[in-house]
Amino acid sequence: MKEDVKLLSVLSKKNVTPPPIWLMRQAGRYLPEYRALRAKAGSFWTMCMSPEMAKEITLQPIQRFGFDSAILFSDILTIPYALGLDVVFEESIGPTLTPITTTDALRRDEKEWARRLSPAYETLRMVRAELDSQTALLGFAGAPWTLATYMAEGKGSSDQRAAKLWGYNDPQGFARLLDILGDCVALHLVRQLDAGADAVQLFDSWASGLPEREFADWVIAPTKRIVEKVRAVKPDAKIIGFPRATTLAGYEAYANETGVDAVSIDTAVPPRWAAKILGKRVAVQGNLDPIALIAGGDALAAAVDRIVDAFEGVPFIFNLGHGILPETPVEHVAQLIACVRSSA
Ligand code: CP3
Repeated sequence: MKEDVKLLSVLSKKNVTPPPIWLMRQAGRYLPEYRALRAKAGSFWTMCMSPEMAKEITLQPIQRFGFDSAILFSDILTIPYALGLDVVFEESIGPTLTPITTTDALRRDEKEWARRLSPAYETLRMVRAELDSQTALLGFAGAPWTLATYMAEGKGSSDQRAAKLWGYNDPQGFARLLDILGDCVALHLVRQLDAGADAVQLFDSWASGLPEREFADWVIAPTKRIVEKVRAVKPDAKIIGFPRATTLAGYEAYANETGVDAVSIDTAVPPRWAAKILGKRVAVQGNLDPIALIAGGDALAAAVDRIVDAFEGVPFIFNLGHGILPETPVEHVAQLIACVRSSA
């Protein structure tokens, strides 16, 4: 283990002050250098699939701000693409893909999965070669439930209706879908760790609004299965889970039952509750309101202090409660990092 990398120390349950910081979507549209490259590339998906460009974008926020971790530039929808679905990102509409109602059309060939996912591995190898040794490198994947919501609906949805209906009407078929997704996600995480990622994060961005039983079956159980599959190959793998906007009871069950090393919490979770309850079991990551980062100034400074104070004595990674928004002023990100680094 690289003991001098702050983020990895925290994932080994050590308390580090000031806490390491990175931001979800830190490589993205709020950065002028990202927008410039995006204009040249033409499309977001082209950038995800071109290791040279993805490397440059992954490193942009590190070069500008010196975050404690880089995160692979890619997207969670590379997994449905690996399974054979067409994924299209349309300007100002978001992603669309061929909706499915059965698992019949999904490819089950691990070699083909790895081939379609290989731009991510090449990107990680290239980033690793240029990244200084103090900065961690994170890989990631979407979690099965969140991926299933896009695959069932064919696009983003506000109430995850198509996936829920599939799960309620055809529990066996839906369980098969979550298993196939889990196999592909586990392979993807292992390959990313092989390619130089120090740790990985599972994004379950649509974990909100599930009944207790379905949260257990569709979020907790598939996540636990992935953690076990990855650790069977890589016993020391460090895994962060983000069951965004579940209930407090949901977060607690997730922290206790999935086996992840850290739980990323959304903006609405009370920091003192998370420090006390989740901090007993896992490292905690979060949870500044992305809109407080747009506001900047005194409101931002006060929000940072409240969060850092709440996690005193707990292994903690500073992050947002969700991804950074495109309208965020870059100076506010610099202010945020300065606040966190002087907070000890
Ligand atoms: O955090 C990072 O910087 C790593 C890269 C990353 C992206 N997306 C880049 C991206 C990661 C980890 C994701 C995860 C992702 N992708 C999630 C889960 C996390 C979350 O935000 O809840 C989801 C649901 C997706 C699917 C997705 N990708 C959607 C719905 C959209 C369109 C909405 C939007 O914000 O435009 C994307 C596009 C996307 N993914 C962009 C980036 C930088 C913007 C692309 C662009 O237009 O330039």
